[in-house]
Amino acid sequence: MATMMNKRSVGAFGKQAPVRSARVAARPSRSGSVRVAATAAADDLGFKKMRDGVKVASDETLLSPRFYTTDFDECERLFSLELNKNLDMAEFDAILAEFKQDYNQRHFVRNETFKAAAEKITGPTRKIFIEFLERSCTAEFSGFLLYKELGRRLKSSSPAVAEIFTLMSRDEARHAGFLNKAMSDFDLALDLGFLTKNRKYTFFKPKFIFYATYLSEKIGYWRYISIYRHLQRNPDNQLYPLFEYFENWCQDENRHGDFFTAVLKSQPDMVNDWAAKLWSRFFCLSVYITMYLNDHQRNAFYGSLGLNTTQFNQHVIIETNKSTERIFPAVPNVEDPEFFRRLDLLVQYNEKVLAIGRMDLPDAIKLVMRLPFIERMVAEVFQVFIMTPKETGSVDFSGNKAAIVY
Ligand SMILES: [Fe+2]
Ligand SMILES: [Fe+2]
Repeated sequence: MATMMNKRSVGAFGKQAPVRSARVAARPSRSGSVRVAATAAADDLGFKKMRDGVKVASDETLLSPRFYTTDFDECERLFSLELNKNLDMAEFDAILAEFKQDYNQRHFVRNETFKAAAEKITGPTRKIFIEFLERSCTAEFSGFLLYKELGRRLKSSSPAVAEIFTLMSRDEARHAGFLNKAMSDFDLALDLGFLTKNRKYTFFKPKFIFYATYLSEKIGYWRYISIYRHLQRNPDNQLYPLFEYFENWCQDENRHGDFFTAVLKSQPDMVNDWAAKLWSRFFCLSVYITMYLNDHQRNAFYGSLGLNTTQFNQHVIIETNKSTERIFPAVPNVEDPEFFRRLDLLVQYNEKVLAIGRMDLPDAIKLVMRLPFIERMVAEVFQVFIMTPKETGSVDFSGNKAAIVY
């Protein structure tokens, strides 16, 4: 079963799939990275363990999932009924009532097929599978930490919004826990308590947290549902039972994204001026480009599920962008062929940079060799950023209170 490439019809994404995109979350700011002295040498797949059955977390890179923190005092002001007349509490109450339904309360129940399936995944596929699970678990856990802290900090000033955040952290804890259980099938679980205390937290202003979490939830939805549908069409590629849970799982992410739509609607400054347009595009591009480069570094993983990385990514980006244009005031025009042509160039340059990194040469030489490619990557990103965007959004702020016009 290991690394099989699908030889049958492979559905919408051809042959050759998900990691939650870089995802946001938080807590009191701390610094320091997760470099722990491994108590044992690397195993035969190259993974180090903190202790028996517990993996040392991967080093953080520019493209890896991060933990986030924000200005919680400003959040209190943004969700204050006295200070913000645009807060539509009826909408938040409706969202809260939906989250209380807890549709997935009984969804994340494992069965006996997990362990046996994990044992059948061997060799290089096993390694990329574990890396996929770790990235996904870290991203989900990052959401849990941020939402939990927001729930705690908003409790007295805005109880309904606080409860929504707490219920979303419930969902993310389930997601992260389910993925960590999957990692233990491979005898390499993460110590999430240790990560909470030791991983670096990146600070974003609330406005940027909302853009990033909205995108992260929606792109997560599209990734999960696309993989789910692909594997339903191509059951031979169902290497591991985790993916069978994605259909209901992704509905959690979709609901979380819809909550952030309501948040952005309640904050007109975040979606109605030139700065908002600029930042909206910036965040879209950051999220799309990060996913595109990350996933193309992991073609082998997507291949093991019978997905074509490029087709899968382009589908996810196009669909996420369609959702996003309903609330963001500007989004990149991803359907202009120039857009993916430039992203493909970025993938090529990134491959060169990574190949140089693997060479057995002094670091200074490798740096000099990488520079021309890094320069071309920066130039391509700039070119993508100055492409004519789509002016979008559906919120009319001409009155005192935001009116939704779609
Ligand atoms: Fe999640
Ligand atoms: Fe989520």
